[in-house]
Amino acid sequence: MDLASLFQAHLGERQRSAEEALARTGFDALVISSGEVHTYFADDQDAPFHPTPHFAHWCPMAGPHHLLVVRPGKTPRLIRYAPEDFWYEQLPLGSPFWAGGFEIEEAGTVEDAWARLGSVPRAAYIGNESDRAAAAGLEPNPALLTAHLDWTRSYKTDYELQCIEEATVLGARGHLAAKAAFLAGASELEIHQAYVQTVGCLDHELPYPSIVALNEKGATLHYEGKRGLKKGFTMLIDAGAQVRGYASDITRTITAPHCDSRFAALVAGMEKVQRELCEAVHPGMPYGDLHHLGHLKIAGLLQEHGILKAAPDEAVEKGLSRPFFPHGLGHHLGIQVHDVAGRQLGPDGTPAPPPPQHPFLRTTRMIEAGQVFTVEPGLYFIPMLLRPFRENEHRDRFDWALVDELTPCGGIRIEDNLFVTGASSRNLTRKHLPN
Ligand code: GLY
Ligand code: MN
Ligand code: MN
Repeated sequence: MDLASLFQAHLGERQRSAEEALARTGFDALVISSGEVHTYFADDQDAPFHPTPHFAHWCPMAGPHHLLVVRPGKTPRLIRYAPEDFWYEQLPLGSPFWAGGFEIEEAGTVEDAWARLGSVPRAAYIGNESDRAAAAGLEPNPALLTAHLDWTRSYKTDYELQCIEEATVLGARGHLAAKAAFLAGASELEIHQAYVQTVGCLDHELPYPSIVALNEKGATLHYEGKRGLKKGFTMLIDAGAQVRGYASDITRTITAPHCDSRFAALVAGMEKVQRELCEAVHPGMPYGDLHHLGHLKIAGLLQEHGILKAAPDEAVEKGLSRPFFPHGLGHHLGIQVHDVAGRQLGPDGTPAPPPPQHPFLRTTRMIEAGQVFTVEPGLYFIPMLLRPFRENEHRDRFDWALVDELTPCGGIRIEDNLFVTGASSRNLTRKHLPN
């Protein structure tokens, strides 16, 4: 199916689910703005603009202050903010593939956009222009409706899947270029530059700041430094791409020939663990169970390599795998890299918090067809997390000399994006980046 047809079906689904959400939450209409830019405090510089994600869910048009009006049984109305401007480039709308789905009009100023909105009775508003919304008589960001809309974002349409797949193709190309740069001895900054050059985007167009970590820096989970060290022996790269507002989120850990062979063997073991976890994904499985399985497999690997002296069940039960694998196994993926509603029990927003022993688990949801999420087990040597175990009652269960020898290697994370089908799942990443 072509993109315009995929988008029409996507828009139909947005309309259907919005009408249901409005009916359930007592509103007659929904206004979503793409939002206003954030200007840094005491500065005249703006943060890179991110549209309201709920707006991006309906329309891939870039830029601030656009207004979308959704009413049951009506074609959605799009008031496009299109100022005359000599400071910033303003491009004409043209005829994008998505335009046929909306009744579009243009406004030259923000005030004009809101004046055109007119009176929309019993309407909810989603966005960060709350004062303007309240002045227009709209109810800004009602929690129950927001929870309903967030919930619908967990079930991807074919159009959304196409966007994520294209973002994966770009990300995979970037990863191949980054790997080649790393193996040629490049620095973190040079590897990052190889990545963005190949993806063909500016840094702020990435879905999240790329993590390019050589050697021990791989143990800093969200390392964003870009240092000058060259000829690293191991690289952890976590980098994605964005297409029409949808993200891919991919991590690989690569070892160079001069890496400690014991760490290279651990990377190979984690590769097997990650593939097995991906294969275990099926609808009807709580994501928390997959996370638990991840701990068991990582504990098994740590035992096999002599780092832990405990069987996997006992190690997990006593929390011995947690300092090595402190984050969640994954998260929903879509418009936001950590997509919403991972900790919702249902559309009404009842919270489903993570268990106390896994506070960073970002999704506690049941795995269901239509979801896209990441599977990203990690194994790190993080001194601050391991330190308490050197002295507590479990200290004899670790080979501390080996831990110390492997600490300069940092850590391992391997991350793919999965789409859940009716019976199992499809790995979106491996198709384009097999290793
Ligand atoms: N790139 C951030 C994450 O994997 O969650
Ligand atoms: Mn991720
Ligand atoms: Mn990632």
